[in-house]
Amino acid sequence: MCGIVGYIGEKRASDVIIKGLKRLEYRGYDSAGVALFNGELEIKKCKGKVVKLESLLTKDDQARVGIGHTRWATHGEPNDINSHPHTSSNGKLALVHNGIIENYNSLKKILESKGHTFYSQTDTEVLAKLIEDVYSKNSDDFKKSVQIALSQIEGTYGVAIIHSDFPDQIIVARKGSPLLIGVGDNEMLIASDASAVAEYTDQVVYLDDGEIAVIKKDDYQVHTLDDNSLIKEVHELALSIEEIEKGGYEFFMHKEIFEQPKAISDCLRGRLDPENGTITLGGIKDVLEKMADAKRLIIAACGTSWHSGIVGEYLFESLAKVSVEVEYASELRYKESLIGEGDVMIVISQSGETADTLAALRQAKENGALVLGVVNVVGSTIARETDAGVYIHAGPEIGVASTKAFTGQVTVLTLMAIKLAQVKGTISKEKADRLIKELNRIPSKMEKILEKSSELDAVSNLFSYAPNFLYLGRSFGFPVALEGALKLKEISYIHAEGYPAAEMKHGPIALIDEMMPVVVIAGTNHTNDKMVSNIEEVRARKGRIISIITEGNEEVENLSEFSFSVPDTEDEFSPLLTVIPLQILSYNIAVNRGCDVDQPRNLAKSVTVE
Ligand code: M6R
Repeated sequence: MCGIVGYIGEKRASDVIIKGLKRLEYRGYDSAGVALFNGELEIKKCKGKVVKLESLLTKDDQARVGIGHTRWATHGEPNDINSHPHTSSNGKLALVHNGIIENYNSLKKILESKGHTFYSQTDTEVLAKLIEDVYSKNSDDFKKSVQIALSQIEGTYGVAIIHSDFPDQIIVARKGSPLLIGVGDNEMLIASDASAVAEYTDQVVYLDDGEIAVIKKDDYQVHTLDDNSLIKEVHELALSIEEIEKGGYEFFMHKEIFEQPKAISDCLRGRLDPENGTITLGGIKDVLEKMADAKRLIIAACGTSWHSGIVGEYLFESLAKVSVEVEYASELRYKESLIGEGDVMIVISQSGETADTLAALRQAKENGALVLGVVNVVGSTIARETDAGVYIHAGPEIGVASTKAFTGQVTVLTLMAIKLAQVKGTISKEKADRLIKELNRIPSKMEKILEKSSELDAVSNLFSYAPNFLYLGRSFGFPVALEGALKLKEISYIHAEGYPAAEMKHGPIALIDEMMPVVVIAGTNHTNDKMVSNIEEVRARKGRIISIITEGNEEVENLSEFSFSVPDTEDEFSPLLTVIPLQILSYNIAVNRGCDVDQPRNLAKSVTVE
């Protein structure tokens, strides 16, 4: 969470930083700030979004060095004072930070006893004063002072520091929060993700945990915290500017919903061969035998990625006949860890930076499990730390509400499950051929849904001000119900719950009255009869049925106040289609309610704190 951008070079630093912060704003948007070196340090910061910060900057600033930050508040409410950058007591040092300094209280007390005064409620200000304090005793070596100060920090950080004694450098360091260096021609950038640097360079160096870098406009030196020099690999970025712009859409989420047919085609390209009924997954080819031998698979993820994990559970169990446990990554560490050798863990993450998912991955690896990644962001920490994996290739997802990443994750899990089933011999050739051919048709079926998306306008308008929604699904419809409810609550702030349809009778049915829209995912064929009974139960209590049906399901259509049909497909692939109308419904409702769809309150795209 929080976006960090820094620049050193020949351009006006504030221009590059503001542009970069706008690209990173999805990481947090409570407040924003910059520190520019213009002969002396100049700090501008404010509560609110980057456009507000931009209005505070003067047109005539000529700084060529600076750092910036867009915040998702952890310690201290979003206000001007708590905004980053934070400074040392003598005003010579400014830093921006992403992460949490867990021992900030004890450090603060020590620093206060030494005469430092604190102005903010943040954990970050402690680090600025701590570095100053250490530097006052090691005045011959600023980098060493930063290393010493950081070694006293418990918690996580991605940090960028400038100091007016060293106007030609930025120091960055990382532990637990992502940071990369964009290597340009006589200029360097730093950022917490690549979208902020893609316009200027395609050469990036990813910092790893425990590393610190001193960055000048024509050079960067990377060391460990205990000062061993490192040679880092330079990676080539495959990220185009068009991919990270709205391209005529009002919101990224809208663009990303409509990109799904292309995203899924990209995900399938080179992997699926419908003619020969084969699947090629280069990223896991060397571990397939190990997967086949595993007695169980554990899937760990958060949020939407956890929902795709549940689809994965159904897929792996039904096709590859392997038992699957789907865990909230955040909860795994509090359980007796029984994951170890012989187990295979699949971690799913769009960003590849989610702190809890990363922690689950590390714990499983430490215990000897094989850990595979299903990740979207190429080069992200999770992608780099897993033993093997399959990229989603959905392209950058910028709207906070995940859409194309969900369908991309489900597609990858589908490919993996069919492939594993083929390796294990748990699927007949006939069935595998049929599934592979149908998977290849999914992008065009998605197109058909998107073409008639305006059919959802009326129901969106009718229920935009409902206080609650219930989503019900069975089998493959259940994770879709969870995902539909999450989409609605996160962008429109309407309370919504997703339930397995049969669970309704065990509690939620008490909520149903004539005010309650109940979205029923009736997209799987083998559960239809039972879903019909559940719909009748809702209708008997005057609930308002909105159904997502397979084309031709007149029985459910006739029982519904509103229904939207998706093309028929194999049960296993139904989530890839039924989720799309739910994404659109949420989007329409959020727009009707005047919500900031891409940057919903309190949320951030990438949750890099635990
Ligand atoms: O980047 P990740 O997939 O690891 O992120 C996990 C969740 O934070 C994410 O899916 C979140 O729930 C989204 N806002 C949902 O739309």
